[in-house]
Amino acid sequence: MKRILVYGLLVVLALAVGVGARLLFLQDAPLPQPEVKIGGPFALTDHTGKAVTDADYRGKLMLVYFGYTYCPDVCPTGLSNIAHALDMLGADADKVVPLFISVDPERDTTEILAAYVAQFHPKIIGMTGTPEQVADAARAYRAYFSKTKVEGSADYLVDHSAIAYLMGPDGRFRMHFSHGASPEDMAAGIRKNL
Ligand code: NI
Repeated sequence: MKRILVYGLLVVLALAVGVGARLLFLQDAPLPQPEVKIGGPFALTDHTGKAVTDADYRGKLMLVYFGYTYCPDVCPTGLSNIAHALDMLGADADKVVPLFISVDPERDTTEILAAYVAQFHPKIIGMTGTPEQVADAARAYRAYFSKTKVEGSADYLVDHSAIAYLMGPDGRFRMHFSHGASPEDMAAGIRKNL
């Protein structure tokens, strides 16, 4: 009878210690945060024909935008906003690498990209690659793109997300600018992250 009581007490004690330790452990453990990872490694070709990776731009902010040169209006608006933001930054624009990554690598050759980005700003770098390289880069940034046929023509358009991603000098995501962001908004956001 007495032995059973002692055993019983030991079991209760062991359970209490176990639960206590578990509670302590849970309190020390970081709370799970819903995290969406944006950005990551990419390997592409810049508009001068040079093979580049994300690592080549470490130490500078990257402003990453996905689009294509045949885009009727979304990309021209986005790129002209980026160009105005760069002008507003003045000398600080040297700390930013604006990348225009083509989601239409079949048509966007390095030559076409070079001529296109130059229309907007001398600092903007056009990027293309194999369809796989482009798809990998878009996946890393969670950028959406999808070809759509133009009716009665062999032509196609590419629907795509129109977000500019600002990445830190360490290559990590800092913030994004949606399509409606003004050049003033972008310049202010970039300045905060310099
Ligand atoms: Ni576009």
